[in-house]
Amino acid sequence: MVEIDVSDLSVQYTTANGHIHALEDIQFRLEENESIGIAGESACGKSTLGLSIIRMVQGGNIISGKIMFNGQSLLDMTNPKFDESIRWKKISMVFQGAMNSLDPVFTVEEQFEWWNETKSGYCNGFTIKTKFCYS
Ligand SMILES: Nc1ncnc2c1ncn2[C@@H]1O[C@H](COP(=O)(O)OP(=O)(O)OP(=O)(O)O)[C@@H](O)[C@H]1O
Ligand SMILES: [Mg+2]
Repeated sequence: MVEIDVSDLSVQYTTANGHIHALEDIQFRLEENESIGIAGESACGKSTLGLSIIRMVQGGNIISGKIMFNGQSLLDMTNPKFDESIRWKKISMVFQGAMNSLDPVFTVEEQFEWWNETKSGYCNGFTIKTKFCYS
């Protein structure tokens, strides 16, 4: 059974200098238990592809194409439905530089709590004297 089927996917960013065609007519399909590695030079659109699948393209638009996942059209789903049933539940993304940025899977509050509980006191050779405050 086809698990994910991407067809004719095109994404464009709009900048002050015009449009950037980040993805043009991307196609691939994966069956259950298959995987794919996407390699390419910087700026060829790898992250944009991942962001499109998880519907987190910012500053740009998916201008055409389809992303089918287990028979459901991801781009036609409402955002609440996508959040409820797909994003982080069935499809996740590990962002670039994930080790030195906040993790989008958890709320900022949860991450600050984790940091406060486990790291306050000593970190990378430095004593942390200030506890985080948040509201
Ligand atoms: N938010 C944005 N606004 C405008 N242009 C963008 C934005 N995000 C990406 N781009 C442009 O879209 C193109 C594809 O970028 P993308 O980040 O998807 O490439 P990449 O293959 O992941 O690159 P890298 O290997 O450096 O991570 C590039 O030309 C990039 O400058
Ligand atoms: Mg990238």
